[in-house]
Amino acid sequence: SVRMRISKVLADCCPGNDTNIAGWVRTVRSGKEITFLAVNDGSCLESLQVVADPALDNYEAVCRLGTGSSVRVTGVLQESPASGQRIELRATEIKIIGAADQDYPLQKKRHSFEFLREIAHLRPRTNTFGAVFRTRSALAQAVHRFFAERGFIYVHTPIITANDCEGAGELFRVTTLPFEKPPLVDGKVDFAEDFFAQATGLTVSGQLEGELFALAFSDIYTFGPTFRAENSNTPRHAAEFWMIEPEIAFADLMADAALAEDFLRFLCRFALEECSADMAFFDEHIEKGIVKRIDAVADSSFAIMDYSEAIGRLEKAPVSFQYPVSWGLDLQTEHERYITEQIVGGPVFIINYPKDIKAFYMRQNDDGKTVAAMDLLVPKVGEIIGGSQREERLDLLQQRMLETGVNPEGLWWYLDSRRWGSCPHAGFGLGFERLVMYLAGMENIRDVVPFPRTPRHAEF
Ligand code: 4AD
Ligand code: MG
Repeated sequence: SVRMRISKVLADCCPGNDTNIAGWVRTVRSGKEITFLAVNDGSCLESLQVVADPALDNYEAVCRLGTGSSVRVTGVLQESPASGQRIELRATEIKIIGAADQDYPLQKKRHSFEFLREIAHLRPRTNTFGAVFRTRSALAQAVHRFFAERGFIYVHTPIITANDCEGAGELFRVTTLPFEKPPLVDGKVDFAEDFFAQATGLTVSGQLEGELFALAFSDIYTFGPTFRAENSNTPRHAAEFWMIEPEIAFADLMADAALAEDFLRFLCRFALEECSADMAFFDEHIEKGIVKRIDAVADSSFAIMDYSEAIGRLEKAPVSFQYPVSWGLDLQTEHERYITEQIVGGPVFIINYPKDIKAFYMRQNDDGKTVAAMDLLVPKVGEIIGGSQREERLDLLQQRMLETGVNPEGLWWYLDSRRWGSCPHAGFGLGFERLVMYLAGMENIRDVVPFPRTPRHAEF
């Protein structure tokens, strides 16, 4: 008979039905007359209680099953007399598919996240990581639903590229030249024999290509992996992360902020409604009160604060920060958290940053000092979204490229978009991992990525 997902068996709750399930044993409680197996298949947080008795011809072997073993169970559903579950499966057959012996690392006790990171190949079988990765999956679907409902076109921007969108020199290099002896001309790498015949790398952002599509389809978004060879030894940075980047034409910074607010509120509501059991788990085990907080955010309208005001408030703050605060300096995570947790008490857009700390493509404000940038900061996580209105005026864009040391030659195609039918447009990037951290209350980005890429970690 067909294998049923345990989530469906529990939701349907049909005592008397014949059922077939398969999964991994979480616990075995053996008695002489009867043995209980808790079996989990990852479809939901809960395990299904399987009741085994000596009438099974392999009863002895079932009693000896270790945590982590995989089994396939056929039986009849019955109401459960035990508390905490309404239904259990009385087994007529238990097939042992893959036994796990006693050195299985995930024994029934609480393991630290640090330990579980070392066994990233097994941690999806724990309650916490089951909840995190189910929620991550649901949120990925929610992203597409949000934009599909609004008629946005989904664009697949390139992974390998010669452009460094953020201009921060954080590209991971991609080359077909030999590692041992790259050809040199005048001491510089000669790319003539390279596949692309030029220096290329992994994309840090799909924005520049996304802008070109926005100038044809009006409303677009990307959702894909991005890579940054930055010092990612923090709980909030990964070398490989996923980003969602919408781009809207005929739109200014305020329209951009409105879209970002709608989007985040939608994702909050979605998580509460579609991942309610996992969210309740986070509330109980990861961050107390998170459900109430996310529920409030889903109904709130976000504050907006000028960068200059934020600096003023930080300068007056009665705490000492590790990093200096003054007009012209970028905000560090400690500052971002102070603003959102102590001053605002919720999500806040910081807008109009100094142009010298932002990328070349951001639109210059009339004051000559700032650009139409916006970062959305949230409690605990800090920056979750970075975005801006783009410089749509060709001459000003060219001037910014010169000032920031961005070579216009490699971006002739981008400049073309400002020559023919340019228009005000804006967009932002939401870090998908930071979103999952925010909604699950997880404090380390390594614990919301299935197989995190951080310094010295790329084996699996
Ligand atoms: O602020 P960032 O660098 O902005 C851009 O890349 C723009 N091109 C986006 C746009 O306007 N289309 O990155 C956007 C977001 C950040 O707010 C953060 O959430 C996330 O991406 N992010 C990272 N997440 C994890 N690890 C890293 N190393 C990240 N760097 C950025
Ligand atoms: Mg940023």
